[in-house]
Amino acid sequence: MWPPSRRQLCLAFLLVCALSAFSFLLSLHQDLFRNGLALSLLCRERQLVPAPVAIVHLPASNASSCAGRPASPSGTWTIHPDGRFGNQMGQYATLLALAQLNGRPAFILPAMHAALAPVFRITLPVLAPEVDSRTPWRELLLHDWMSEEYSRLEDPFLKLYGFPCSWTFFHHVREQIRREFTLHDHLREEAQRLLGKLQLRRTGARPRTFVGVHVRRGDYLQVMPQRWKGVVGDRTYLRQAMDWFRARHEAPIFVVTSNGMAWCRENIDASQGDVVFAGNGLESSPAKDFALLTQCNHTIMTIGTFGFWAAYLAGGDTVYLANFTLPDSEFLNIFKPEAAFLPEWVGINADLSPVRTLSGSWRLWKFLG
Ligand SMILES: *[C@@H]1O[C@H](CO)[C@@H](O)[C@H](O)[C@H]1NC(C)=O
Ligand SMILES: *[C@@H]1O[C@H](CO)[C@@H](O)[C@H](O)[C@H]1NC(C)=O
Ligand SMILES: *[C@@H]1O[C@H](CO)[C@@H](O)[C@H](O)[C@H]1NC(C)=O
Repeated sequence: MWPPSRRQLCLAFLLVCALSAFSFLLSLHQDLFRNGLALSLLCRERQLVPAPVAIVHLPASNASSCAGRPASPSGTWTIHPDGRFGNQMGQYATLLALAQLNGRPAFILPAMHAALAPVFRITLPVLAPEVDSRTPWRELLLHDWMSEEYSRLEDPFLKLYGFPCSWTFFHHVREQIRREFTLHDHLREEAQRLLGKLQLRRTGARPRTFVGVHVRRGDYLQVMPQRWKGVVGDRTYLRQAMDWFRARHEAPIFVVTSNGMAWCRENIDASQGDVVFAGNGLESSPAKDFALLTQCNHTIMTIGTFGFWAAYLAGGDTVYLANFTLPDSEFLNIFKPEAAFLPEWVGINADLSPVRTLSGSWRLWKFLG
């Protein structure tokens, strides 16, 4: 063996360099190819099925460039719980539907869980207060009807605000909404026991038709005329609505619930023997009244989200109070009747004469003053 010459050493070195450069380029090319293929496959899949969670861990090549939407269902969406029971049901359903539409996970805040979980078998997870306070939310005030822009919200961390209670947000997932708002067994059974007793008390063993009547009173008695130039359901409306059912169903039983039961006893005509004043009328514990209304076959609502939800979940014929504000009411800026009442529901126009005179005398006072 002889020692290699300088020239040979140099050639060998160059050869090694060339080989390693070639294999480096080859592996680089393969990596690029693999990644590119994986990416395009994922992008294609994204259009067909909801993106699997695993996409979150893709190498940081700009995945969002292949579809106009966020590359993954990561992030956190929630809604600010505000108002009473019916408002919070509307907020829950709207959050669920919009988050689903935009491919984001939805969480509720503890106050909403406290309001709804004792009544319904809701399933959305609850966000811990520490997480809520640390999350860089974008805040969005919703109006009360669905619009195109709400199906293209790209924010990963979004907190919704407002009092949405419109079927236009969630009617496409109504079975899911109905499942979420399934009553706990003890509430449903208690309501059924009560309806069963009413049935027995009446003549015959034929199954009877129950019409839940929700009469919203309380604060609305002031708020509607003073703030919104509107009225609440009066005795004439309730009589018309009940006659509508009497004309269409054989011997219905009207089950009245209200937060003004004393007014109902005085103003709802029970002389035909088909009216039962059943509600306990406690605003603080609406669960029993609500359960009773949803177990009825049909609904008469007056105004308010509580009645909306009772009717939506009962799922039968529904009569509602229509045109319950003056045409120039500011209420109509935030409330669109066609987005609030299902097209198949039956509206009966409100008698606006009480607010017409009120508004007339107000103008007179302003003129005199
Ligand atoms: C993805 O694209 C955005 C905007 O086009 C850019 O700001 C960001 O740096 C890109 N990310 C990567 C990992 O290339
Ligand atoms: C009406 O409601 C009662 C009580 O929930 C129920 O037992 C009955 O089956 C319902 N009738 C119809 C036709 O759905
Ligand atoms: C409410 O008023 C509008 C406008 O006057 C009318 O078109 C509509 O039919 C009314 N609604 C009902 C249920 O009568």
